[in-house]
Amino acid sequence: MQIPLAQLEEKGVFMQQTPLQAIILAAGRSKRFNTHTSKLLEKICGQEMILYPVKLLAHMHYALHIVVGYQADAIKNIIKQNIPKTVNFVEQTEQRGTGHALLQTQPFWQADHILIINGDCPLINQALLEELVTKHVSTKSVITFVTAHHTDPHHQYGRVVKQDGITKIIEKSDYQINQDQCCINAGIYIFDKKFLHKHSHDLKPNSQSQEIYLTDLIAIAAQNHYKVETIDAPYDTIRGVNTLKELWAVEQIKRCELISSYMDQGIIFSFPQSTHIEVTTRIGSGTRIGAGVHLIDNTSIGQNCHIGPFSLLENVTLGNNVIIESHTVLKDCIIEDGAHIGPFARIRNESKIQENAQIGNFVEVSKSVIGTHTKAKHLSYLGNAHIGNEVNIGAGTITCNYDGFEKHTTTIADGAFIGSHNTLIAPLTIEKKSYTAAGSTITHNVPSQALAIGRARQINKENYVVQLKKKRREKKEKKIEKNIVFIGAKKTINDSSL
Ligand code: UD1
Ligand code: MG
Repeated sequence: MQIPLAQLEEKGVFMQQTPLQAIILAAGRSKRFNTHTSKLLEKICGQEMILYPVKLLAHMHYALHIVVGYQADAIKNIIKQNIPKTVNFVEQTEQRGTGHALLQTQPFWQADHILIINGDCPLINQALLEELVTKHVSTKSVITFVTAHHTDPHHQYGRVVKQDGITKIIEKSDYQINQDQCCINAGIYIFDKKFLHKHSHDLKPNSQSQEIYLTDLIAIAAQNHYKVETIDAPYDTIRGVNTLKELWAVEQIKRCELISSYMDQGIIFSFPQSTHIEVTTRIGSGTRIGAGVHLIDNTSIGQNCHIGPFSLLENVTLGNNVIIESHTVLKDCIIEDGAHIGPFARIRNESKIQENAQIGNFVEVSKSVIGTHTKAKHLSYLGNAHIGNEVNIGAGTITCNYDGFEKHTTTIADGAFIGSHNTLIAPLTIEKKSYTAAGSTITHNVPSQALAIGRARQINKENYVVQLKKKRREKKEKKIEKNIVFIGAKKTINDSSL
């Protein structure tokens, strides 16, 4: 059944002038993952696996059709959120194999040549696809597909074999060791549309698995004397991901790729194999990244920064010359030029640390702005606070921002000095250049230049200790008296200390 072009455009399918369209197979059940989630939703360097081929093909401006089935809604959502271009989703309601998945797309075969890619090969690149297209067009083949070499003879890939002069792909379960295996099938193919219309229905379910294999089309073409060509690719560009171990291996490759490109741009990693980095991470030249650092989710770091070991930065923007000392946790915040954070600091919830501010060990900052040159160097909680420039926050200061129902704001203006161990009960305003005494509980606004003291007055009781000790001693002696008993004429004191 052919759907007229107008109807396709109504459905929003992006029809494009080149004679090539692309199909990604993404409906499979991911059984070998054993995780109850589609493998295509698992992240590799912070990006869902399915987005690697989808973004690449969208970037190459091919009309794009994606076969979805298992966890279709989640896969569709992730694609819609990330790809501005219209993508046509085709449902495969029952997962009966890659050939069956392809057959679901038949109403949408419009272009002369149809590129088909497995959704689980995230390392493919543009150069490889361009080489495949060039070979297919220049050799006028009906099928051109990508092969690679694998050193382990027991691998899980489809084997490309030549039998009785016919090229075919044999899946692992059907492969016999005496067959002449030349290479592996990468799962990336271009088909001539006319061939597909004529022969795709020749596909039959596999006798063992009952699945319909797309790969059987190679033998069908060869048996019908059509031209089949291949291009060879480095294994590391076509790895398929069927297990968690393969996911791990692919992520290592991707991470190495990212880190080596940063090294070329002048970023220094003290222990690169321990750094977690994502496709969205940006780092400026001259920056040093310590061991075990995790840079997650749109984190951008300026030039000449220092990120200390075991720090975690998630959706964070850092200016230039920022120092983040070890074991610091930053999430959803902005740190401006020259700020010095940590060690063991935690900043989150849309906080902004302005230029040259210092946030020290065991200081938590949430939904707050900390002004330039302001210091909060030890053991504090600053929540819903607007703190001006050149403020000193003494050790152990707590903003009490929550009354059990709502959050309230603490405002501390420029040049204020908050003594150590202050409890600042919001809503509260401490005006410019005012002081609060150490150990205060501040409940009322403090005017500019004033000193606020909010603590019980100290009383010194003279000789209190001497009198206390005397009292204790007397009490003890009375107790001993009580315990004296007489046995015959002898007096025994029932106390070992005497
Ligand atoms: C497939 C190839 C194998 C090749 C390998 C390369 C077949 C039969 N075998 O095996 O020759 O060496 O890829 O990595 O094609 N899918 C559907 N619907 C289904 C089944 C699968 O859409 O009913 C999708 C999956 O989501 C996946 C892709 O097709 O993205 C490939 O399926 P997978 O099960 O990974 O095939 P492999 O066993 O890896
Ligand atoms: Mg696979």
